[in-house]
Amino acid sequence: MPVLSKERRHPVIFTLNGEEVEGFAEPRMLLVDFLRHQLGATGTHVGCEHGICGACTIRIDGKAQRACLTLAVQADGRSIETIEGMAAADGTLSPLQQAFHENFALQCGFCTPGILMSMEEFLETNPDPSETEVREALSGNICRCTGYAEIINAVLQTAKQLREGAE
Ligand code: FES
Ligand code: FES
Repeated sequence: MPVLSKERRHPVIFTLNGEEVEGFAEPRMLLVDFLRHQLGATGTHVGCEHGICGACTIRIDGKAQRACLTLAVQADGRSIETIEGMAAADGTLSPLQQAFHENFALQCGFCTPGILMSMEEFLETNPDPSETEVREALSGNICRCTGYAEIINAVLQTAKQLREGAE
């Protein structure tokens, strides 16, 4: 791919998992490509590249969004969270990650970053979901490996743990 001159690219500066990052992006560059190829944040995966599979889900100003449907220039000035920021700095897994681990809720792991980002937001907005609500919330994330039962168990377990921790 030819390298564009800086004059044809736009500066992009945003907060990534709490740290300011910057780079240059041509107007049509996708945010997921900017994250992966310019910033080396390869935890965000690329599946369908047109908004269907959910593999590229990140959080923009707290909202779960498709990074394959977002232009890099649209991230300018925003707060972006990716899977790289989910565990604690010392490597301690988040409650949701730990529950995925305990419930065998991943196999190849390709869909997992996107599902974790989606479910993290979901549990913040719905801390006491029914199984049906979890299934509906997962409908935007395609997993070809697990059959979803373990993922649903992990999300419900996390919700229960977070509620009990808050009491
Ligand atoms: S890669 Fe973005 S939704 Fe599939
Ligand atoms: S764990 Fe393989 S696609 Fe979901």
